[in-house]
Amino acid sequence: MKQQSEMILIGGGLIGLSLAVELKLRGATVTVLSRNQQEAAGLVAAGMLAPQAEQIPSGPMLDLCLRSRALYNDWTRKLEEMTGLETGYWPCGILAPVYERPDCTTLPQTPETPSYWLERDAILHQQPGLGNDVVGGWWFPQDAQVDNRRGLIKTLQTAAQELGVTIIEGITVEKIVTSPDQKVTEVQTNQGIFRADHYILTTGAWSGELLSIPVYPRKGQMLSVRVPDDFKSLPLQQVLFGSNIYIVPRRDGLIVIGATSEPVGFTTGLTPQGVETLLSDAIRLYPILKEFPIQEFWWGFRPETPDLFPILGPSSWDNLTLAVGHYRNGILLAPVTAQLIANWVLNAQTDPLLHHFRSDRFQTLR
Ligand code: GLY
Repeated sequence: MKQQSEMILIGGGLIGLSLAVELKLRGATVTVLSRNQQEAAGLVAAGMLAPQAEQIPSGPMLDLCLRSRALYNDWTRKLEEMTGLETGYWPCGILAPVYERPDCTTLPQTPETPSYWLERDAILHQQPGLGNDVVGGWWFPQDAQVDNRRGLIKTLQTAAQELGVTIIEGITVEKIVTSPDQKVTEVQTNQGIFRADHYILTTGAWSGELLSIPVYPRKGQMLSVRVPDDFKSLPLQQVLFGSNIYIVPRRDGLIVIGATSEPVGFTTGLTPQGVETLLSDAIRLYPILKEFPIQEFWWGFRPETPDLFPILGPSSWDNLTLAVGHYRNGILLAPVTAQLIANWVLNAQTDPLLHHFRSDRFQTLR
């Protein structure tokens, strides 16, 4: 495919915008069709870059996640230089306290994935104020975070606009029209028909509404609190990743707490049970939180796949590429997804890693 190709991206969330910027930087003409950017999973998440804390088993998924984590520093710096905005990337490390001591206190590691077991005294030295039930925990110094809601998305939107990507917000793609020779010919929307040389699906949890691919919503409820003004310094300067709960401090005193994981389809809204679980789990882990003023509650939908891996690369149609199903790792995987998919659609470069994420791995499911 030629660099000058015209591309339509269906979906204007974090993955769509990351890819739009990458394709435009490489010379393509890019249009993003976005139904409602406020719904995007990238705006809902806490922004952890946590392949180690998430305990992703070794294999292609961990390789993909580690490659993306390694891209983050340069990727965010480039976006910040282009726009003059801040993404909130913070290589602060992640501390994972536990309530039961594991039998084995070493993890498989490489130079890029160091991890350290800390006994209770040591973990309290590193992070004062942890709950009484904490018996120790893991320290993952290479895991990090980015301020996805207030920093990264805005930076990507601005970069895309300044580069000349056409972003149409508030448009619904109703149908992807295909021909018998395995090509997409056009997309029908509530604002008319759009055509391009190549189409890329970046529709997150809603992907199954347009194509027969196994991507399902997995709801998450979240909230934030703020460190009171009378604190002289930030009490948390690293992410806490506990059992079913994470506590993500931002540099300006906001603390994001997440998240439930609910197979309830697209059922919107907060629930008393969801909020109660978040608050009690967070307070058990880091009790002082119970005194911090609440800022906000919200919810959203992760795009889940049957094996929890994303779907990346070719589809059954020659000119339709897929970049969906990032589940719990969309923020982390944005830079590597943009890089690998741009290599594929513009240069037909198939990285050996991409092979593991093809959609046809699910063929027996259909
Ligand atoms: N990445 C964490 C979550 O999806 O809750």
